[in-house]
Amino acid sequence: MSAIPMVEMVKVTKRFPGVVANDNVSLTIDAGQIHGLLGENGAGKSTLMSILTGLYRPDEGDIYIKGKKVDMLSPKDAVTQGIGMVHQHFKLVKSFTVAENVILGMKDMGVLYDKTKIQAQVERFCTQYGMCIDPAAKVWQLTVGEQQRVEIIKALFRGAEILILDEPTAVLTPQEAKDLYKTLRLMAGQGKAIIVISHKLSEVLEGTDMISVLRGGKPAGSTKTELASEQELTRWMVGRNVTTHMDRAANEPGEVVLELDKVSCLNNRGQLAVQQASIRIRAGEILGIAGVAGNGQTELAEVVAGLRSIESGTKHVGGVDHTFSGSRDMIRAGVSYVPEDRLGTGLVPGLNAVDNYILKSYAQKGWLINWQQAREETQDVISSYDIKMANLFNPVKMMSGGNLQKLLLAREINADPRLLVVVYPMRGLDVGAMAAVRKLLLAEREAGKAILLISEELDELFALSDCIAVLHRGEIMGVVHPRTVTVEEVGMMMAGKRMLEQHAV
Ligand SMILES: Nc1ncnc2c1ncn2[C@@H]1O[C@H](COP(=O)(O)OP(=O)(O)OP(=O)(O)O)[C@@H](O)[C@H]1O
Ligand SMILES: [Mg+2]
Repeated sequence: MSAIPMVEMVKVTKRFPGVVANDNVSLTIDAGQIHGLLGENGAGKSTLMSILTGLYRPDEGDIYIKGKKVDMLSPKDAVTQGIGMVHQHFKLVKSFTVAENVILGMKDMGVLYDKTKIQAQVERFCTQYGMCIDPAAKVWQLTVGEQQRVEIIKALFRGAEILILDEPTAVLTPQEAKDLYKTLRLMAGQGKAIIVISHKLSEVLEGTDMISVLRGGKPAGSTKTELASEQELTRWMVGRNVTTHMDRAANEPGEVVLELDKVSCLNNRGQLAVQQASIRIRAGEILGIAGVAGNGQTELAEVVAGLRSIESGTKHVGGVDHTFSGSRDMIRAGVSYVPEDRLGTGLVPGLNAVDNYILKSYAQKGWLINWQQAREETQDVISSYDIKMANLFNPVKMMSGGNLQKLLLAREINADPRLLVVVYPMRGLDVGAMAAVRKLLLAEREAGKAILLISEELDELFALSDCIAVLHRGEIMGVVHPRTVTVEEVGMMMAGKRMLEQHAV
């Protein structure tokens, strides 16, 4: 059966000042198909999809939807064509409810709308696709994974037949990711066309029907998934094979840098998020926190960074009591923080790279800034961390997701902290960048920094951590040594099985 393709992008080129983000790219997506889009950070994936959703106009090239040439002048035109997109950085209004966000901007809904009716419809969508969520909940109270569901429901609500998801699983737990692909498969079964951008090769190989790869803005290959291999895809993306193996040097940990003693805190909904957690990290040590997302890890990191208050228990950094210290004091105490939410808490989207880079030093040095030096430092960091961006003075929201991540990490590491708190640092990074970040963290460890590493990837935790603390419903199930415990045992602890404390105190 050779039906007309749902989407055809033909020889699309998009230039930004200083960079050709898409260079003569053609892409065909069929109805009923899940199509994976791969490529390194900055390869042009998000740009290509933003063109398809009417956010950008291509400089050259044509777009056909169901065989008909379309000229998309705005995102509204794309919605009319049945195209919906879930962006890498969500575009929800945090103070609104789920239901309000779902109907936001829909013309025929008007200002006054029947709340109960909408809530009922949202609920129906949730059950139909197995993505349940409380329509009355405020978005700021939701986890990142839940916010994503809102975005998907929002697109479906507008009648999307072509659904584009930009790195949807980067923010999901392995189980949530599996569920998402089940949902997508259901949608494909109904004749929708799905495009998924991802850096996770195994998931793309498992969950898609076709795969296309971009490299440096140019098409690097396209294949049926069943004919693809991880090696070949990597070569298409990077142009060479990538080694991910990493040696961890043996080093003697030094004095205790962070000590939490029976710390409890609340989440945004006012419920207990962390209960009586005790951890300590010494200089030159990486403490990994394992756990299914939403079990208190984000709140724990915020407590350490001084962004969330402690209900009971104590926090010491370098032997000094910081139980009641706020974020500014924690920065002064030498704590760097790479949050989960990069463009909200981490970086200021509308400011440029230099401003973002020196943002933290405003707090420390006041407004006496040597701009020449700031520019040079930022430029140095950009070259040494291989951060790709068109221009230092563009707002950072124009940077690709992976490069944003690298900029934030670079800033926090270059602040020369004694304690580095990193939350899901590998999210959204391509294979090469991931290897680079691993190397960076290990180098910081060797330089005697204490590192609190939060991750849901057990492989990553096992490869990097000196000790792993496992969180389940806000409680630490045990602190174990990755060399004496199996992945399965940690998995059981993540599900709530308690382990004897093995951590040498
Ligand atoms: N609005 C913009 N203005 C200027 N340059 C831009 C803009 N949007 C993207 N770029 C540049 O275009 C290139 C492609 O970026 P894009 O976001 O499409 O990459 P990506 O493949 O999605 O990367 P990632 O995996 O990191 O998300 C990058 O060099 C980026 O800096
Ligand atoms: Mg992107």
